[in-house]
Amino acid sequence: MRFTVTGPDKSIEETRTRLAFFENHQWEHGFSKWVVLNAASGVPIGDSGLLVLPECGWIDLGFRLAQPHWGQGLATEAASAWVRAAFDEY
Ligand SMILES: CC(C)(COP(=O)(O)OP(=O)(O)OC[C@H]1O[C@@H](n2cnc3c(N)ncnc32)[C@H](O)[C@@H]1OP(=O)(O)O)[C@@H](O)C(=O)NCCC(=O)NCCS
Repeated sequence: MRFTVTGPDKSIEETRTRLAFFENHQWEHGFSKWVVLNAASGVPIGDSGLLVLPECGWIDLGFRLAQPHWGQGLATEAASAWVRAAFDEY
């Protein structure tokens, strides 16, 4: 999260608030940021998804992965899945 616009969460409360926002967004729009699981182990390694940004007038595709999982094409895989879902399902 060091490299994202808002930087890392400063407290566990901030993290809870962010996750609650993602959950409400899912109820409201039918999509949100979702956890990314390692397909082989089921271990959570990041998040990715679509967020409505009313202040910008667009829907944002985001992704972030824990550093040990960088450079293996996983962001490309997650982004491709979301783009397909965006046009085919939403
Ligand atoms: C950005 C991030 C998700 C990339 O994940 P990844 O799985 O390593 O990316 P991929 O392996 O699918 O690489 C996709 C392409 O992006 C490039 N790329 C990856 N990280 C990059 C970065 N930080 N800056 C520029 N290009 C980058 C790769 O070289 C690759 O290009 P190529 O196909 O021409 O070789 C990961 O570095 C991350 O979680 N960073 C911190 C959070 C963040 O910055 N998220 C994005 C903004 S919200």
